[in-house]
Amino acid sequence: MNNQVSMQTLYDTPEPDLLEKIAQLRARLGDKVLILGHHYQREEVIGFADITGDSLKLAQQAAKTDAPYIIFCGVHFMAETADILTSNEQTVILPDLAAGCSMADMADEEQVTRCWNGLAEVIQPDQDVTPVTYINSTAALKSFCGEHGGIVCTSSNCERVLKWAWGNRDKILFFPDQHLGENTAVAMGVPDVDMILWDPARPLGGNTPEAIEKARLILWKGFCSVHQLFRPEHAELMRQNYPGIEILAHPECSRRVCEKADFVGSTEAIVRHVDQAAKGQAFAIGTELNLVNRLRLMHPGNPIYFLSPTVCMCSTMFRTDPQHLYIALLSIAEGNINNQIKVPDVDKRWAKLSLNRMLNLG
Ligand code: 13P
Ligand code: SF4
Repeated sequence: MNNQVSMQTLYDTPEPDLLEKIAQLRARLGDKVLILGHHYQREEVIGFADITGDSLKLAQQAAKTDAPYIIFCGVHFMAETADILTSNEQTVILPDLAAGCSMADMADEEQVTRCWNGLAEVIQPDQDVTPVTYINSTAALKSFCGEHGGIVCTSSNCERVLKWAWGNRDKILFFPDQHLGENTAVAMGVPDVDMILWDPARPLGGNTPEAIEKARLILWKGFCSVHQLFRPEHAELMRQNYPGIEILAHPECSRRVCEKADFVGSTEAIVRHVDQAAKGQAFAIGTELNLVNRLRLMHPGNPIYFLSPTVCMCSTMFRTDPQHLYIALLSIAEGNINNQIKVPDVDKRWAKLSLNRMLNLG
C-alpha cells in the first residue's frame, strides 16, 4: 500500500472526485502507462482503459506495446500472460492481487503432471497427446504445455488451436475448461465417442485404459462458476417470452446452453455481433453481467436481456475498483510499485513458447 494515501481515505472520497483524480494522474503519466481492460470490468473502471477486449486481443496488445508500465484491469492469469509477453524492462501491475479466476484454480501443475503420468500408464503422451491449456490457467500450466509440445488457446481461437493440435498428435488433453473444449469440438463435428472426461480426483481420471486408448479429446473436468449458472431452460423461456429474440452465449456455458444459442463466441465476438445488429433486434446474452449491462447502455435501440433470471457476476473481475486503479497509478507516479505480477523465469521460457505458438496462428 502506498504510504501517502490510505485505502480508507479513497473509499471516503466521493466517486466523482476520485474519478477526476484518476483522470488527472492518468493524463500526467501519458505514454508511460498502458491500461488494458477486460470486457467484464465495471463501468467506472473500463472508462479508463486505453484498450478493451477479450483475452486474445488483450494478450496481443500486451505483446505489442512498448509502454514501460501496463496496468491490467482484469484477473491474475491475464496479468501473468502480459508479463510473459512483455520484456523484462516492462512492469505489469494487477490493481488488486485478489482478482483471480476460479476456473484457473481448477487445474494446477501437480494435478496435470499426475494426469500426464496416468496417461503414460496406457499410452505415450509425449508422442500421442498435445496438451492444450485455455488461457484461463496459471503460467506454470502454460509452461507445461510449452515443454510438452502444446499450446494455449482462448475462447476466440479454440477451433484453430484444436486443428493445429490434432495436426501434430492424435489426441488432445484440454484443460481446465471442459465446456470450451467440448463446445468447440462439437462445432467441429467431433462425435461424442471421441471425447472423455478427466476427473482429477479419480484414478485415470475415472476412465478405463481402453477408453483412453480410443479417445481423441480428453476434457478436464473444470468449469467457470459464473457461466455454469446459465441453463438451457433460460434460453427456452426467453424464446417463449420474446419471439424473434437472438440468444448469444459464451463458450464457457455448458453444451446444452450453447446448443440452444444462435451465436456462441468470445466476449469480443459478442460485442461485435451486437454492434453489427439491425436496430430493434432483441438479444438474450449468456455471459457476465457487467458486459451485458454495458451492451444495454450502448445499444438503446436493441432490447437486451440477461439470459439468466439470477445474477451471474464475476466477483473477482469486480474486485478492481477505481480505488485500486488510483493506487496503481499513484505507485507508478511515485516510483513505488505495488502489485507487480512477475512470472518466475523457470515458467516464463516455456510459457512464452506455448503462447507464441498460439499468437503465430494469427
Ligand atoms: P474472453 O476471452 O472471451 O473475454 O473470456 C475470458 C473469460 O474469462 C470469460 O469468462
Ligand atoms: Fe474466470 Fe469465470 Fe471470472 Fe472468466 S468469468 S474470469 S472464467 S471466474
